[in-house]
Amino acid sequence: MTEQLGIRTPRRLIVTGGAGFIGANFVHYWCGKYPGDRVVVLDALTYAGNRATIAPLEGKANLRFVQGDICDRPLIDQLLKEEDIDLLVHFAAESHVDRSILGPGAFVQTNVVGTFTLLEAFRQHWLAHDQPDTFRFHHVSTDEVYGSLEPDDPAFTETTPYAPNSPYSASKAGSDHLVRAYHHTYGLPTLMTNCSNNYGPYHFPEKLIPLMCINILLGKPLPVYGDGQNVRDWLYVEDHCSAIDAVIHGSKPGETYNVGGNNEVKNLDLVHKLCDLMDELAPDLPVRPAKQLITFVKDRPGHDRRYAINATKLKTDLGWTPAQTVDSGLRQTVLWYLNHRDWWQPLLSQEYQAYYQKVYASV
Ligand code: NAD
Ligand code: TYD
Repeated sequence: MTEQLGIRTPRRLIVTGGAGFIGANFVHYWCGKYPGDRVVVLDALTYAGNRATIAPLEGKANLRFVQGDICDRPLIDQLLKEEDIDLLVHFAAESHVDRSILGPGAFVQTNVVGTFTLLEAFRQHWLAHDQPDTFRFHHVSTDEVYGSLEPDDPAFTETTPYAPNSPYSASKAGSDHLVRAYHHTYGLPTLMTNCSNNYGPYHFPEKLIPLMCINILLGKPLPVYGDGQNVRDWLYVEDHCSAIDAVIHGSKPGETYNVGGNNEVKNLDLVHKLCDLMDELAPDLPVRPAKQLITFVKDRPGHDRRYAINATKLKTDLGWTPAQTVDSGLRQTVLWYLNHRDWWQPLLSQEYQAYYQKVYASV
C-alpha cells in the first residue's frame, strides 16, 4: 500500500459516524497517530452523535466536520471529489438492538441503504481515478451477524455462517453482504472487520456499560435483562481502533477479520464488577454498596444468549493483540464516567427519558 521503505504517504479519509462512540474514538486515535492525514468526519448527528466528543480536534487544520446523511448521494459524491479521498472508514449506523426492536425502519435505511449509497459513490470515485490499488473502503461491522452461540459452541470465525436475529444485526448483515458483493463483482478494494461488544469513553448512555455506570452514580435501579446469564465478549474501544488500523495498513483488499478480546463475561458478573469498581472509586455514591440497585427486568425479545470471537486470523496475519484486559479496561472506563459527568449529563435529555420509559417501563 502506501508504505514503502518505511515512508508512509499521508491519507485523505472520510470517517462516517465519526461523532458516535467508536467513530469518535477512532478519530481521536487516528489524528493522534497520523497527524499528517486529512480527516473528514461525516455524521448526521442523530441522537447518538455528539459533536462535542470531537470538538477538541476541530480547531486543527487537518480535520473537517460535515453534518450530513450517508444516504445523501450528491453530498457523498461532492466530498469524495473535493477532498480527493483515498480511504473511507464506515462506522455510521443505527447501532442499538433495543431501538431496532422498537423501530426497525431507520436501521434498514441507514445500515443497508446508507452503506449501499457509500459503496456506489466510492465505486464511481475509484473508477474515475482509474481504479488505484491504494484506495480502500473499510466497513466496520459486528459479531452479531453470526447469531447466538450455545454455551459450548466454538467462538465465531470469519467462516461462521451468518444467522442474524435482531433487526439491528439483520441490517448489518445486509450491509456486509453488499460490501462482499462489491469486492467480488466490481473488484472494489474493500476491507471488513466484525468486532465484539466495545466499551470505553464516549459511549452513549443507552448501552449496558455506560447505563450501569451512570445509574450507579445517580442511585437508580440497574436493569438486568432476563436471568443475567447472557454472555458478551468485551473489547476496549481503543483496541478496536488499533485493529482497524492494522487491517487498513496490512490487509489485502477483500479480506474480512474478526476482532475480539477473548473476554467473555456474563452480564450479571459484569454488572457486579462495575458495582465493585464504583464502590471502590466513587467517593460519594447515593447507594452503597451499589449491588443493592441490581433489578432483574423482563428479557429483551429474541435476546441472543452468547457471542464469542475467535480473532486468531487477525493475530496470525497482522500480529494484532488487544492491549487491555477486561479488568484494566473496565477500571479506566469507570474512572472516565466518574470524571466526565459534563459529557454524559446533557445526554439524559427528554428524548432519552422517553426512550428509557418505553424500554424499562417496569423499572
Ligand atoms: P453509535 O450509535 O454510537 O454511533 C453511530 C454514529 O453514526 C452517530 O454519530 C450517528 O449520528 C451516526 N449516524 C447514524 N445514522 C447516520 C446517517 N444516516 N448518516 C450519517 N451518520 C449517521 O454507534 P457505535 O457503537 O459507535 O458503532 C459504530 C459502528 O461500529 C456501527 O457500524 C456498529 O454496527 C459497529 N459496531 C459497534 C459495536 C459496539 O459494541 N458498539 C461493536 C461492533 C461493531
Ligand atoms: P448492549 O450494550 O445493548 O449490547 P448488545 O445488545 O449489542 O450486545 O447489551 C449488552 C448486553 O447487556 C446484552 O446481553 C443485553 C444486556 N442488557 C441488560 O441486561 N440491561 C440493559 O439495560 C441493557 C442496555 C443491556
